[in-house]
Parts: sequence; structure tokens; C-alpha cells
Amino acid sequence: MIKTPSTIAILGAGRVATSLASGFAKSGHQIIIGVRDAGHPASWSGPEVRFATHPDAIAAADVVFNATPGDSSVDRLGAMADALAGKLLVDVANATGRDERGAPSGMLYFNDSLAERLQSALPLTRVVKTLNTMLAPVMSNPAMVLGSPAVYLSGNDADAKATVRALLIEMGWVDTQILDLGSIETARGPEAVILLATDVMKVTGFKPFAISPVS
Ligand SMILES: NC(=O)c1ccc[n+]([C@@H]2O[C@H](COP(=O)([O-])OP(=O)(O)OC[C@H]3O[C@@H](n4cnc5c(N)ncnc54)[C@H](OP(=O)(O)O)[C@@H]3O)[C@@H](O)[C@H]2O)c1
Repeated sequence: MIKTPSTIAILGAGRVATSLASGFAKSGHQIIIGVRDAGHPASWSGPEVRFATHPDAIAAADVVFNATPGDSSVDRLGAMADALAGKLLVDVANATGRDERGAPSGMLYFNDSLAERLQSALPLTRVVKTLNTMLAPVMSNPAMVLGSPAVYLSGNDADAKATVRALLIEMGWVDTQILDLGSIETARGPEAVILLATDVMKVTGFKPFAISPVS
């Protein structure tokens, strides 16, 4: 079994960061949340964590999650390429614009993906795309949806994907639910299908989901 890192950095302090921090805290990890204003955000409802600036959070961990808005991620993370060199960046952001309620609206990249753009902007960082295809609470609690949800991995580095797989298993995912799609280019599919979820929720209401093949 792969040994996962004891400290994990999460950039962003929103719904996704809260879910991930809860999941990782349960499995005994130290969590550092990267925020724009290094104080404790009043709205934080997750477990006990440390808050730091993005550069300080990145410096403290070998594995860094991007849980910030996807439409500004390439510029923001690209500007921190030196700090991210040698790290494993796990990108869970949606590659979409956002509507007035903050819901995904319209793909940002055609015949391309946010994950690929991040990998190009960060050549010394191993980027793995995962977890963007579900509602935030499901990320750290896959048992909350009916049936067997899937989670996808896309990335060029097999060791990096093995580490992310091990972190997912610690959060309750079963090995057979984790589908390694291949290189970073395969992030295009998981990034594109998120538009389906937005429209489905307009019909069915706001419920936990994970976009998964049924066979
Ligand atoms: N919510 C979901 O169910 C879900 C599911 C799958 C994927 N995602 C994706 O995951 C990412 C995070 O989603 P979320 O729902 O957690 O969003 P959120 O609740 O809006 O939180 C995003 C966090 O990012 C930080 N942030 C916002 N603008 C920023 C900027 N310009 N520069 C740096 N930091 C900024 C903010 O933290 P500070 O202001 O404290 O720094 C904020 O707490 C997004 O890309 C989203 O599309 C969300």
C-alpha cells in the first residue's frame, strides 16, 4: 500500500475545501488551507486546520489540492510555478465559467482542458485531475449517493496517480470505483460532463450526485 503524505495543502476555503479537509482529517492528515487573506475565514465550518497564504500552504506540503475557481486557476497557479515545482497538484476545479449563483456555466476550453493547461503552465509539477464530477460533500463521503459512484483520474505520472488513488481510498472510495482514464488529456471528458449536472439539477433539484457510468 502506498504511504500517503502526512500534510496536505488545499488552496481555497469553500465547499470543496471543507469536504476534502473533513475527509483527510478523519484519516489523520494535517491540513493547511491556502487563503487569500491569511486570517481564519469567518465562514469556515470544516475541521481544525491551519490557514496560510497560498505560497506558505504550498511550501508546507508535497500534495496540493486546487479548490479555487477554475476560470482563474491557470493564471493564479501558473504565477506560483516555482513554489509548485516538484509537488503533486490535484486539480478538482471545474473548467467552466460561473453563472450568477456560482453554478458551472459554459466550458472555458475547447479541445483542451484546465488540467492540460495547468500541466503546461507547471512543467515541473505532476498534475492529476480528479473529483470534479460530483457535488462537494460526495468527494469525502462517496457512500452518501445511491449505487456505486465513480471517480476518475487523469494525469501523466503513474506514481502521482497512485498517491491520489490512495488518498481517495482513505476517504472511503473503493478501488474499483476509481477509474484511471490515462494521461492528462483524458481530463477533457470529466471536465465537460459537469455541464450535464447543472442542467439535471435544475430539473431534479439540488441533490448529491457523482457522474458515473451505469452498466
Ligand atoms: N461545490 C461543488 O460541489 C464542486 C464540485 C466539483 C468541483 N468544484 C470546483 O471546485 C472549486 C471550488 O469550488 P467551491 O464550491 O469550494 O467554491 P467556493 O465555495 O466558491 O470556494 C472557492 C474558494 O476559492 C477561494 N477563491 C475565490 N476566488 C479566488 C481567487 N480569485 N483567488 C484565490 N482564491 C480564490 C476562496 O477562498 P478565500 O477567499 O478564502 O481565499 C473560496 O473560499 C471550483 O473550481 C469549483 O468549480 C466544486
